[in-house]
Amino acid sequence: MNRTHSTSNSPPKPGAAGRLLLRQPDDWHVHLRDGVVLKSVANYTARQFARAIIMPNLAEPITTIAAAEAYHKRIVEAVAEDTSFTPLMTCYLTDSLAAREVEQGFASGVFTACKLYPANATTNSSFGVTDIKNVYSVLEAMQRIGMPLLVHGEVTDSEVDIFDREAVFIERVLSAVVDDFPVLKVVFEHATTADAVAFVEAGGANIAATITPHHLEFNRNAMFQGGIRPHYYCLPVAKREQHRLALRRAATSGSPKFFLGTDSAPHVINAKQSACGCAGIFNAPFALESYTKTFEEEGALDRLEAFASEYGPRFYGLPLNKGTIALVRQEQRVPDCLDCADTQIVPFHAGQKLSWQIERDHS
Ligand code: NCD
Ligand code: ZN
Repeated sequence: MNRTHSTSNSPPKPGAAGRLLLRQPDDWHVHLRDGVVLKSVANYTARQFARAIIMPNLAEPITTIAAAEAYHKRIVEAVAEDTSFTPLMTCYLTDSLAAREVEQGFASGVFTACKLYPANATTNSSFGVTDIKNVYSVLEAMQRIGMPLLVHGEVTDSEVDIFDREAVFIERVLSAVVDDFPVLKVVFEHATTADAVAFVEAGGANIAATITPHHLEFNRNAMFQGGIRPHYYCLPVAKREQHRLALRRAATSGSPKFFLGTDSAPHVINAKQSACGCAGIFNAPFALESYTKTFEEEGALDRLEAFASEYGPRFYGLPLNKGTIALVRQEQRVPDCLDCADTQIVPFHAGQKLSWQIERDHS
């Protein structure tokens, strides 16, 4: 593709030798888990990203300031000593959560945002919200104090086709929330449809979305390529090609409403390769390389830095990172499996070749 883009703010230019120098990015949506899995996966995220929004859907969800502080500590302990990484904690909304806990957590800097999981939408979401009206007093407080609401945008009604659940959520739930709380900051997490892109584009500056590397890379056919492929299964599930193309356009458009959020969601190999496999793609190990692939294919490498490193912090009202990271055009083969405690996890792009890699020893 030969698109040329007008650019702003001295965008990075791929050097003659194929080197990209970027302001250090952040990951605005990641699952780091806990215990031995946390210890195995945290550094994949921390070696690329300066900060990350940590999802609160542990087996026992993070619903209190104390639980978030303790989890924050476990994350920091899991990260290598020579790596500077700031976990940004989120609070898991439940039907009975007190607005006071949320407000105090935000005021004291423990909580950066709240995450809305409709009950039973995905992994560890059985404590989620059963009716959005049950959290209206919390949303009212969040709107007042400027605290972002991060939304898993799917209805859970089993009568709704799984591929329609995102579009129906917009229609039945999110449109009303945005009308009722017109200045609430909302992040439509892991957008997977053209409908979500259109919804976010039509909203005010307080409405944004994260886009994952995997939803940019494949459509729903990937799950059924010659057989059932559990490592391509995540929630929200990948949709038709037209939706993937809408996501690629949005991510590379230069709109500040769309920014990087990997939704890296590790599950050990036996939990994926099972008669009832878990939803989630472990993309943290090669996340930046994967996004770079998409931006290069779209002729938009000059827009990667803003997507990865600028629009997220601007939306959250946080400073841009000062450090940099470099990618070099050098082919690498993604391993079939990565060790995780006494088992393994299959990473996104397993067995494939990627043409960019993060430069080692960059300072
Ligand atoms: C996530 C997980 O495993 O925690 N899974 C996924 O497929 N993305 C949950 C989520 O974000 O929906
Ligand atoms: Zn997620």
